[in-house]
Amino acid sequence: MHGGMKNMNQYVTGAVIKELREKNKITQRELAEKLGVSDKSISKWETSRGLPDITLLEPIAEAFRISVTELISGNTIHNANVSSNMLRSKFYVCPVCGNVIHSMGEAAIHCHGIQLSPLESEPTDEHHMIFIERVEDEYYVRIDHRMTKEHYISFVAAASSNDMQLVKLYPEGCAETRFKISGVRRIFFYCNRDGLFSVDPVKGIDDKESGYDDSQERRELENAADLLF
Ligand SMILES: [Fe+2]
Repeated sequence: MHGGMKNMNQYVTGAVIKELREKNKITQRELAEKLGVSDKSISKWETSRGLPDITLLEPIAEAFRISVTELISGNTIHNANVSSNMLRSKFYVCPVCGNVIHSMGEAAIHCHGIQLSPLESEPTDEHHMIFIERVEDEYYVRIDHRMTKEHYISFVAAASSNDMQLVKLYPEGCAETRFKISGVRRIFFYCNRDGLFSVDPVKGIDDKESGYDDSQERRELENAADLLF
């Protein structure tokens, strides 16, 4: 989703046409020719002095290689290579029901009538510390956080380049889980109040004990990580 194009209109706007035209590197004249209208019409639409006739919506969408729905909502989706890498996954959370949606690329996702935005993850902070331990072939993950109905960790996920392990957590439960280590490069967790956090699991292990950096165990871990990834 592209910030500048977001709007709540139920019809295409001049700003959206202009943005799409420029993004596609099409001149007003070229667009006019494609649509069979005058270039003055395009200029009028783009400066909010008129709107394209409804019969032109499909040809306009076609000119920009998007759907009419995207054109009207102003939310266009660009997925060049959706399954290229799970590490670039996006998470969406419905603020009403807490529904968690994982997507491998951009998507226009609605829940409870709300268009959800992909979450951006933050580095962990002192109120959202994660402790990661290796237990055989698993990461045991614990987040130091309250688990009340009002404020809790609602999910934890572990991403590798081709796999996503996602665990739902519930208030009054424990903020902990286990993941198969194999290939895991990033661990995400979501606080219903403070949003999405993520950490490199090897660094997360560092959080446990500072001054851990130069230990034998640490070097072994890094070697293991190199072999795995
Ligand atoms: Fe929190």
